[in-house]
Amino acid sequence: MQEKGLPQKAVLTELQSKLQEDHTHNSGKILGSMCNAPHTFAKQVYIKCLEKNLGDPGLFPATARLEREAIHMLGSLLSNPTAGGHIVSGGTEANILAMWVARNSNKKRNEVIVPVSAHISFDKAADLLNLKLIRVKLNSMFQIDVTTTKEAITSKTVAIVGIAGTTELGVVDPIAELSEIAVDHDLYLHVDAAFGGFVLPFLKIIGPSVPEFDFGLPGVRSITMDPHKMGLAPIPAGGILFREEATMNLIGKRVPYLAGGATEHTTLLGTRSGASTVAVWTLLKHLGKEGYTTVVKNCMRLTRKLAEGVQRISGVNLVIPPTMNIVGIKSDMVKIELIAQELRNKGWAISLFLNHIRIVVMPHVKLLHIETFLNDLEMVMDKLDKGRRLSLDSSSF
Ligand SMILES: Cc1ncc(COP(=O)(O)O)c(C=O)c1O
Repeated sequence: MQEKGLPQKAVLTELQSKLQEDHTHNSGKILGSMCNAPHTFAKQVYIKCLEKNLGDPGLFPATARLEREAIHMLGSLLSNPTAGGHIVSGGTEANILAMWVARNSNKKRNEVIVPVSAHISFDKAADLLNLKLIRVKLNSMFQIDVTTTKEAITSKTVAIVGIAGTTELGVVDPIAELSEIAVDHDLYLHVDAAFGGFVLPFLKIIGPSVPEFDFGLPGVRSITMDPHKMGLAPIPAGGILFREEATMNLIGKRVPYLAGGATEHTTLLGTRSGASTVAVWTLLKHLGKEGYTTVVKNCMRLTRKLAEGVQRISGVNLVIPPTMNIVGIKSDMVKIELIAQELRNKGWAISLFLNHIRIVVMPHVKLLHIETFLNDLEMVMDKLDKGRRLSLDSSSF
């Protein structure tokens, strides 16, 4: 650090130049992220609430009340308006909290059954909490295989995890069947709807054929649902909801020294952002079900355009028809890594999985971006196909 501070203008000039390298959502080039440009109204509110610390709720009782209200609003979308929970730093923390509660519900057991599609946050949770993940294979629709799930249950099983919107493909596991299994075996069932939580309730309003995944199912004890993904909220804003508020006492730790008075913490973090929570509350109030339904409707319209476009391009295809606004693109013609590299060379920020490229059609993505991407994909496939044919020709000499 330099001895003397610089004038604000000089710092800003340097900052601006250093930040230029970062991608922006407005560019339309980010097609592989589950995050989004935050809603303008939420940003305004967020900036006004930067000093609010939910780690010391006695100092900020009004903000703490807004957190409860936000959780109840989210709960009402998940068939449980009296759910307990917190706005946390993200889906990772939310899943860790759920696993922490599950583990403490029966400390004699340490096995958690997860689909192989489970997010890496469960590996982190297992590492931190000394849990053993029992990974269950997927069926042909990329959902957790129910028969194998049943077979995986042992006297050590403490919990099952189902995903409502997998990271790779946006697939919804058969949560209703997992719920029955959980009830029959008295196991904790956590649903990771970090992405799907802000999609499925609104898809249900648009069309009726949405699988059940929430507290309406008796076995579901907790749900992750992230406002900083499809909820349009500024980072950090994850959501963890518990069927019963009292469940959180299983991880409660009393913090005696706080300026606002001793408090029971039921989150991983101590000091934590109140601004995020206020921003989430603001958006839920401002957009309402109608606003979020419009957002999801637009994303799904563009998702269909993208899916149709991919199917028209020779050499690539869909992994499966999209359930939500996530599209998996595969190729039987050339290595998927080559396609991803060519697309990245053209500036597209896409996600690469083992056998496919993932596009997430977030609210910042517009029709023009989809059309430009499809044009580029077609060009890339032409180029790679020509290269492939040339190498085939030369190898036949
Ligand atoms: C299904 C699912 N769960 C959890 C997470 C973790 O969320 P975060 O990155 O906010 O910690 C993700 C992230 O993509 C996800 O897709």
